[in-house]
Amino acid sequence: MGTIEEQKPRVVLVPFPYQGHITPMLQLGSILNSRGFSITIAHTEFNSPNHLDHPEFVFLPLPDNLSGCETSYITSLKGISAMNDNSKELFHEYMVEMLETQAQNGQVACIVYDTLMHFVDEVATCLDLPTMVLRPNSAAYLRALQVIFQLNADNLIPLPEDQLQDAIPTHHLLRFKDLPFPVTAEIPEILIEFFTSYANIRSSSAIIWSTVDMLDHESLTKLQQHYKVPIFPIGPFHKMAPKFNTSLITEDSSSITWLDKRAPNSVIYISIGSIATMDKKELIEMAWGLANSDQPFLWVVRPSSVSGSEWIECLPEGFEEITRERGCIVKWAPQKKVLAHPAVGGFWSHSGWNSTLESMCEGVPMICRPYFSDQVVNTRYLTHVWKVALELNGLERKGIEQAIRELMGDKEGQEMRQRALKMKQELELSIQRGGSSWNSLENLVELITSYTQ
Ligand code: UDX
Repeated sequence: MGTIEEQKPRVVLVPFPYQGHITPMLQLGSILNSRGFSITIAHTEFNSPNHLDHPEFVFLPLPDNLSGCETSYITSLKGISAMNDNSKELFHEYMVEMLETQAQNGQVACIVYDTLMHFVDEVATCLDLPTMVLRPNSAAYLRALQVIFQLNADNLIPLPEDQLQDAIPTHHLLRFKDLPFPVTAEIPEILIEFFTSYANIRSSSAIIWSTVDMLDHESLTKLQQHYKVPIFPIGPFHKMAPKFNTSLITEDSSSITWLDKRAPNSVIYISIGSIATMDKKELIEMAWGLANSDQPFLWVVRPSSVSGSEWIECLPEGFEEITRERGCIVKWAPQKKVLAHPAVGGFWSHSGWNSTLESMCEGVPMICRPYFSDQVVNTRYLTHVWKVALELNGLERKGIEQAIRELMGDKEGQEMRQRALKMKQELELSIQRGGSSWNSLENLVELITSYTQ
C-alpha cells in the first residue's frame, strides 16, 4: 500500500528535445502536477532537462545513442528518425514496469507526447494506453501546413511569384507569402512527409494546445472539425506555471541588474531564440542599426548563432564602446523576467511561438525578424491580425534603425504599445476562473481523470 502522494494518477510526458518544445511540455507537467497528477518525464539524453530543477517530477532518460553526433545531424530528419528508433524499446520497458507497479506508484492515466516523438503511439497502442498530443505552436501554423499539403496534393507547387501577395482563400488572414516554407519552388517529398507526420495525431484521444482561444479562435474552430477529438487550448502555459525554470542554457542574471538601472520602456531587447542562426553580415548590420538608433539595448547573442563565429568577435570596431555606454550583450537571458521588467519597451524577436506569447503576456510590442517555419506565420499575425508588432523591412542598418525608432518612439509605436497592453489584460483574463483557458484546463483535467475510472 503506497502513501497518498504515491497514489495520485500519473501522466507520462514525452517532449521533443528542442528548447522551444521542451519548455511547454515541462510547463504542462507543472500545470497538471498542480491539479493533482504525478508527472513522469521520459526524455532523450540529448538536451536532457536538468532533473535537479524539478524535484517534483520523475525522470526517465531514453538512450538516443546520439552522443558524439553533430547537433546538425541530431536535428535533421535522419537524426529525429534515429531518436525515435532508439528510444522505443526502453520506453516500452519503462511503461510495462510502470503498469506493473501502479498500486505503489499511481495509476498511469495517459501519455502526452510531442508528435515528433511518434514512437510513443506504437508503444501506447501495444499497451492499450490512451495518449494525447501537445502542440507547442499556434493553431494558425498547423492550418498553414494544411494549406501546403493541399497545394502539393493539387500539384500547384511551384506557385507563380505573382500570386505570393494574394490572400489564401482557405486561410484568409495569411497570404501565400506567409506560409511556413516557400511555395514558389518544389518542396522535397521528404519534407512533406515529415510535416504530414507532424500534423498527424495518430490514435490520440485529444490535443493539448499551447495557445489561447482569443488569439487563434478561427483556426482552432476549423481544426476541431478536422481532428474530431477534443482540443484543449490552455495557454499561456508560462502564466499557469509561474516561476518555473525550463532553460537548457544557464541564464545570465546580470541582464536584470543592468535593466534595473534603465528608465521605464527605454530598452530594446533582442533575441532570436534557441535555434535560428545568422551570418556575420546580419550581425554587423544589426550592430550598426542599434548603434545609430541611440536606444539602450539588451542583446542575447547565443554562442555559435553567428555562422563562422564562436560568439561576438566579429562585431564592428567601436561597438564595444557603444555597448559600454548603453548596451548589454549576454549569451542567454532569463527572458520571461526580462520581458516583465519595466525598463523593456520593445522586443526584437525571431517570432518563435514561446517568445511571441511571452512578449504579448507582458504587453511588450515587437519587431519581427522571422527566420523559418512558424515564425513566418506568427509574424503575419503579430503585425496584421493582433497589430502589436512591425516587421523588419530588410536587413540593412538604415531599415533597422528606422524600425527601432518607430517602435520605441513614434506615434505608431505608441499605438502598438497600447494595443499590446490591452492584449496583456485579455490574456490575463483567459487564465482566470471562467476564462477560456481556465475552462479548457478544467475539461482537460476531467478527461484525464476519467481514464483512471
Ligand atoms: C522553436 C521554433 O523556432 C519556434 O518557432 C517554435 O514555435 C518552437 O520551437 P525557438 O526558436 O527556440 O523554438 O523559439 P521560441 O519558441 O521563442 O522559444 C525560445 C524560448 O527560449 C523562450 O521560452 C524564451 O523565453 C527562451 N529564451 C530565449 C530564454 O530563456 N533566454 C534567451 O536568452 C532566449
